[in-house]
Amino acid sequence: MKKDFLAISDYPSQELQDLLDLAEELKAEWKSGGNKPILQGKVLAMIFQKPSLRTRVSFDMAMRHLGGDALYLSPAEIGLGKRESIADVARVISGYVQAVMARVFAHEHVVELAKWSSIPVINGLSDYNHPCQAMADALTIQEEFGTLKGINVTYVGDGNNVAVSLMHVCAKLGANFTIANPEGYDMPAESIAEARKFAAESGSALAFLRDPHEAVKGAQVIYTDTWTSMGQEAEAARRAKVFPPYQVNAALVAEAAPEAIVMHCLPAHRGQEITDEVADGPHSRLFPQAHNRLHAQKAILAQLLG
Ligand code: CP
Ligand code: NVA
Repeated sequence: MKKDFLAISDYPSQELQDLLDLAEELKAEWKSGGNKPILQGKVLAMIFQKPSLRTRVSFDMAMRHLGGDALYLSPAEIGLGKRESIADVARVISGYVQAVMARVFAHEHVVELAKWSSIPVINGLSDYNHPCQAMADALTIQEEFGTLKGINVTYVGDGNNVAVSLMHVCAKLGANFTIANPEGYDMPAESIAEARKFAAESGSALAFLRDPHEAVKGAQVIYTDTWTSMGQEAEAARRAKVFPPYQVNAALVAEAAPEAIVMHCLPAHRGQEITDEVADGPHSRLFPQAHNRLHAQKAILAQLLG
C-alpha cells in the first residue's frame, strides 16, 4: 500500500477491493459491539481549508473507534501555504502526529503536503477529486448489489471532484459508468483518459453523454452532487441557469432500472440537483451512504496506520 491516500487512480484494483472488504469486516465488527483498538495511541491531524460535516465527524469517530484520537485544525488556524509554506507545515506536523487528513482547494496542495510529510496523508477532498467519498460510495454499492462488477452507475450533473473519483472507482472495480453533464462542465480530459485505461483492464464500459434521460436508461445507481462546489460560489448564478435539466427528480428516477438506488455525497441542495421526494423516497440511499464514510475511512486508516 502507498504511504498516502490521495487519489483512487493511484491504487491497483485489488487494493481497492481489499479496502472495501476490510471496511465491511470492520463494520460488521462494530455492529456486533466491538472495535479492536488497532490504532491505540495514534493521532490523526485534520486540516480543513473548507467547511465539512461528514468528513470531519466520520474521520474523528473512525479514529476513536480504532482506539486513537483526532485533532481538528480549522481553516483559520493553519493557513496552509499562506501563514506558512506547505513544506514547512508538513515537516512540523510529521513530528507531532501519526497521519494527516487534509481538505484543500488546489489538489497540488495535498500532493505537496504528502511529498514533504514523513507520515501518511489522506485527501479529504480537493478541487480535483474526493477519493474517501468514492470508497464510501463503492462500499454502499457493494452492500446493495453484492459487487461493483457489471453494475450500471449513472452520474447526472457537474463533472466535478466527486464525479472524477466515482468514475475512477467504477472503472477500477468493473462497474459501468455513465455521466450526463452539460457542455462546458465536463470532467478533465486526463481523468477521462485514465478511466479509459482502468476500464479496459476491468472490462467496464464508460459513456459520456449530455442527455440525462438517455443516461439513466438501465441505471442501477443514479448519483448526483451540487451544481456549485465549494470555491465556485461566484459561478452559482450562471450554474443555476444551466443545470435544472439535470435535476434528479421522481420522473428521472422512473426512467432507470426498477431496483435503482439514488446516491448523493451530500450536502444536498434540495429543490436543485435533487428533490425532497427522491432524497427521502424509497430509492434513496443518501444516509446509509453518508454513514459508510465512517466504515470506509476506518479501513483506509487501518491500512495506512495499522
Ligand atoms: N460528502 C462530504 O464530503 O461532506 P462534507 O463536506 O460535509 O465533509
Ligand atoms: N463537489 C462538492 C462536494 C462536497 C462534499 C464540493 O466540492 O463542494
